[in-house]
Amino acid sequence: MVFVIISQFNKIGKVLGEIILKYSIQNHYQNLAHKYNNFWGYSPEFIDSLTKKIIEYLKLTDTDKLVDLGCGTGLYTQAIVSKISFKHPVICVDPSDQMIEQIPKNSQYKTLVNDAVNFADEPGQYNKILIKEMIHHIDDKEKLLKGLFERLTPEGILLLILLPPTIEYPLFVDALRTYEAVQPNYNNLVDLFTKIGFQTIVNFVDYPVSIPKGKYFEMVQNRYMSLLSRFDDEQLKKGLIEMQEKYHDQSNLEFCDRFVFLSAIKPK
Ligand SMILES: C[S@@+](CC[C@H](N)C(=O)[O-])C[C@H]1O[C@@H](n2cnc3c(N)ncnc32)[C@H](O)[C@@H]1O
Repeated sequence: MVFVIISQFNKIGKVLGEIILKYSIQNHYQNLAHKYNNFWGYSPEFIDSLTKKIIEYLKLTDTDKLVDLGCGTGLYTQAIVSKISFKHPVICVDPSDQMIEQIPKNSQYKTLVNDAVNFADEPGQYNKILIKEMIHHIDDKEKLLKGLFERLTPEGILLLILLPPTIEYPLFVDALRTYEAVQPNYNNLVDLFTKIGFQTIVNFVDYPVSIPKGKYFEMVQNRYMSLLSRFDDEQLKKGLIEMQEKYHDQSNLEFCDRFVFLSAIKPK
């Protein structure tokens, strides 16, 4: 009896914890929206280099019907549109209205404030889908990917971009440990895609980052990664002190930013 009561309490605690985390992630992006582009604006080369890779791996052409799912401020979609004049508007989907509001209001974009799983459940046919650094926010990945399989036309490509299981970012130790505990492993995603019927190819895209230390510390202070919203002000302050001590003799931080490019193709 006591065991049953304790296990019920544990379950309720876990569910409550998940709800609070979800709420804080939503808040995280609402608060970040106006600073987001500014963080990455320090390196147009970084955006340009990744954009070229996205165009290459998605095999984008001007006749494509492209969806950017979890588009955020449309940082990458806008960079893509500056290189390709699509005949159809790019469909940009994100649950954060504040993030999506940063996308220009013109005929090149169709913006939808929506959750990815809901979007995948709604009618529509597209031949290219981009999901960049968003999949870690999805609980029911199978439901999402099954829905997107239905939305894709035969030979359509879904490009999933995510960070690998470990990263070299110059963050404090607790942040790196938490990252490793919560980041989805791309190998499990490959299994899921395969089970649904996709053909998959995995590539790694590396970018050597060189960033002024002050700029990076400002980004951490502003919780530029949703991971950092798991730390309260006091913990973040301690983390920044740890980073300050570790990198006290450097004015620039240099590290390799590695991305997993998982191409999932719907067979003919
Ligand atoms: C790290 S940002 C990436 C934004 C953009 N893809 C980029 O690379 O610049 C993650 C984005 O995922 C969005 N997001 C979070 N939960 C989501 C969900 N359930 N469905 C769709 N997007 C979601 C957030 O609002 C945020 O804009």
